[in-house]
Amino acid sequence: MTINSNKQIETRKKEGIDLALQNIQAKNISTLFECVHPIHNALPELNLLDIDTSTKFLGHDFQIPILIDSMTGGTPAALKINTRLAQVAEQFNIGMGVGSQRAGLLSSRLASTFKIVRKNAPNAFIFSNIGGAQLAEGLKTSSIMKLIDMIDADALAIHLNPLQELVQPEGEPNFRGILKRIHELSKDLKIPIIVKEVGCGISPQVALKLQKNNVSALNVAGLGGTSWTGIEQKRAIKANLSSKINMGLLLWDWGIPTAASLLLTKKSVKLPLVSSGGMRNGLDLAKSIILGASMCAYAQPMIKHASKSYTSLTQFIEDLHFQLKSIMFLVGAQDIKQLKSKEYVITEPLTSWIHQISGKNEKK
Ligand SMILES: Cc1cc2nc3c(=O)[nH]c(=O)nc-3n(C[C@H](O)[C@H](O)[C@H](O)COP(=O)(O)O)c2cc1C
Repeated sequence: MTINSNKQIETRKKEGIDLALQNIQAKNISTLFECVHPIHNALPELNLLDIDTSTKFLGHDFQIPILIDSMTGGTPAALKINTRLAQVAEQFNIGMGVGSQRAGLLSSRLASTFKIVRKNAPNAFIFSNIGGAQLAEGLKTSSIMKLIDMIDADALAIHLNPLQELVQPEGEPNFRGILKRIHELSKDLKIPIIVKEVGCGISPQVALKLQKNNVSALNVAGLGGTSWTGIEQKRAIKANLSSKINMGLLLWDWGIPTAASLLLTKKSVKLPLVSSGGMRNGLDLAKSIILGASMCAYAQPMIKHASKSYTSLTQFIEDLHFQLKSIMFLVGAQDIKQLKSKEYVITEPLTSWIHQISGKNEKK
């Protein structure tokens, strides 16, 4: 807590929003969802009107398997965005995460930028957020309970962001002791813990360790969407930190593409999985469910539409819903359970990702 003052965090959060709105994405690699091909069914025997996209995740009912991923709060600029996001979460019965709540712990003025979410979404599934680096650095369970109470959260998301911490000008790349803290929290808290990345993906080995330490769900947050390495690299340019600038450029596309992370973690653990990192439409959503995800989380597109208007945001979610239902119709799936059982073909380079990493596991 010493390195990052209240004011510094507030400024960083504002810069994060501004840069994310500039659409800073992975450059030379994608999510690899283009390598996933669901099988077309020319004889669906379904009426589009009967298709049911409702589902359950961590004991909560959802109308569509969509989460608004952890994003913002901790700057006055987040108030309007979080208000709109929370209103659509409530309207469509989807879930929503807030951004890292560290700033809310330090200042009651900034806590209001998070509290606004529960005010506008009294019934929706809302999840808290804190960084793994803060846990490793000694953030106490009592403080975590405060941030959960701040929004009456249904779950806690812990983000693992080692690369972001490396490139970030004020970054704290120290994750020593993190797994033990996650384990302790899983015993102390009454709500489920979701562990997430922020755009570099989760490997099957890491997924297994997290499962053994009582985590309730994983959000793979893979490579192919928003590049936090890229965003922090831009901030490092402003701060004139040449080593961080070079590191950001070198590792801009570092990580595990989302489709690979999803398939690999699905093989290694039994936990419910959230597919995220570069989710941009309802086809990504349908493919994610076919590959075994329970939910799909969107970050950048949600903040982009929320910053335009409420109508733009509702239109985006309606489009996602219509696109999901349409793909379900085309593969002959009446509900989410049937969609999960549908066959698919995967092509290169996704096939290599799956086989080569699986091979290494088998040797161990
Ligand atoms: C403006 C913005 C702020 C974010 N802040 C956080 C955060 O505080 N905590 C977190 O876990 N992830 C944060 N993320 C990462 C997202 O949750 C997500 O993992 C990542 O952006 C990849 O998804 P996307 O490609 O859909 O943007 C943020 C993303 C955006 C766009």
